[in-house]
Amino acid sequence: SEKAFVMIKPDGVKRGLIGEIVGRFERKGLQLVRAELMQLSSETARIHYGHLQSKPFFQELVDYITSGFVFAMIVEGKGAVKNARALIGPTNPAEAPPGTIRGDYGLDVEANIIHGSDSPDNAEREIKLFFRSESA
Ligand code: GTP
Ligand code: MG
Repeated sequence: SEKAFVMIKPDGVKRGLIGEIVGRFERKGLQLVRAELMQLSSETARIHYGHLQSKPFFQELVDYITSGFVFAMIVEGKGAVKNARALIGPTNPAEAPPGTIRGDYGLDVEANIIHGSDSPDNAEREIKLFFRSESA
């Protein structure tokens, strides 16, 4: 089966949403196989968001994601990447439907609670970046 990388961002951790969010993945049938509360270095943040380097909000995004603890997770199950993205919802919480994590808990396009890998290849890359000893 497939693995996805999911990360509760600093706003989600600060607001005490870890248990609520982990429960949604578990109830969907995606298994938590590894998790760690961690604070990202700006190097890791810059690599993780490398595809957004040319965006005007890049520095702001790096500052935000390094501003506090994140809860990094590997979830596993059939179609884990697609299914995790479906639980998370669209990037902008203002456009995310109720029932999705961003739709239920977010208001802000930057502080949008949670990250999920957007493809199996990126899931593998992100798992290696955040959990050095893990084989994808
Ligand atoms: P992730 O799961 O976090 O990767 O989100 P995504 O795949 O839905 O969106 P994308 O990879 O395009 O953007 C990564 C992150 O950059 C988003 O989750 C937001 O936190 C942030 N972001 C995206 N667009 C904007 C924007 O227009 N302004 C700001 N300030 N942040 C943005
Ligand atoms: Mg993305």
